[in-house]
Amino acid sequence: MTSPRKKYIIANWKMNFTPGQSSIYLQRLANRIPAQRSIQIVLAPTTVSLQPLSLQVDRRQFKLAAQNFYWRDYGAYTGETSVTQIRTFVDYALVGHSERRYVFNESEEDIAQKVAAAIRNGLTPILCIGETAVERKDGETAATIYRQLTNGLHEVSKEDISKVVIAYEPVWAISSNKNAKPAKPADLDEAVRLIRSHISKLYGKQIGEDISVLYGGSVNADTAGGYLDVEGVDGLLIGGASLIADSFCAIVETAKEKFNER
Ligand code: 13P
Repeated sequence: MTSPRKKYIIANWKMNFTPGQSSIYLQRLANRIPAQRSIQIVLAPTTVSLQPLSLQVDRRQFKLAAQNFYWRDYGAYTGETSVTQIRTFVDYALVGHSERRYVFNESEEDIAQKVAAAIRNGLTPILCIGETAVERKDGETAATIYRQLTNGLHEVSKEDISKVVIAYEPVWAISSNKNAKPAKPADLDEAVRLIRSHISKLYGKQIGEDISVLYGGSVNADTAGGYLDVEGVDGLLIGGASLIADSFCAIVETAKEKFNER
């Protein structure tokens, strides 16, 4: 049975590609990936590439996402970019990525404010959550997921929660981490269940079932299918493999097959 939940394949290019390289890469993907009816493909380039890519992209084919922004609308915040400054370029925004949390010490309060700012400005926030290796070893996976959801969503009303996408990215599985270890589909199964049950507790049972939940962490063309087979997974958030056209196109193909089977 086809689930009514929206499906996604999201490329997080992180701090890679100049604007010129982003433009060439976008063109390469555009030539190879036709517009999809059943999957939303989202590209998240670095902030400086958002404006030029927004002029180039066909939004029926790909949507753009911000990797980061500051939650206040304007003011004396040297070096920051507000969501109001980029909102016409993008439809989505990553919020709470583990690299923001742990490399740049973004707090859970900052994350909550960013989720709220994205919604206020008409963007869909993709709230990234996930436990570290230490939290996992200490048996705190469920507690971490609950805390990050509760705190990250505390400004979001019941009316607005349908505008949010959740991405489960266990920090220990992200390829940029030392000793990264790919998650097993069984790890994912448990986490996705915890996420849906906690969202149900916060917003009601139906909302827990209806919210889109994605997986990210060392996904490549060989492993994508196994993750997409996990019940309740509505797509993937891809780092390293999204920088290679062959890998990314192969993942999109796999997703198309898997979601059409459901
Ligand atoms: P990798 O796919 O490189 O592990 O990165 C995952 C990620 O952080 C996507 O946001």
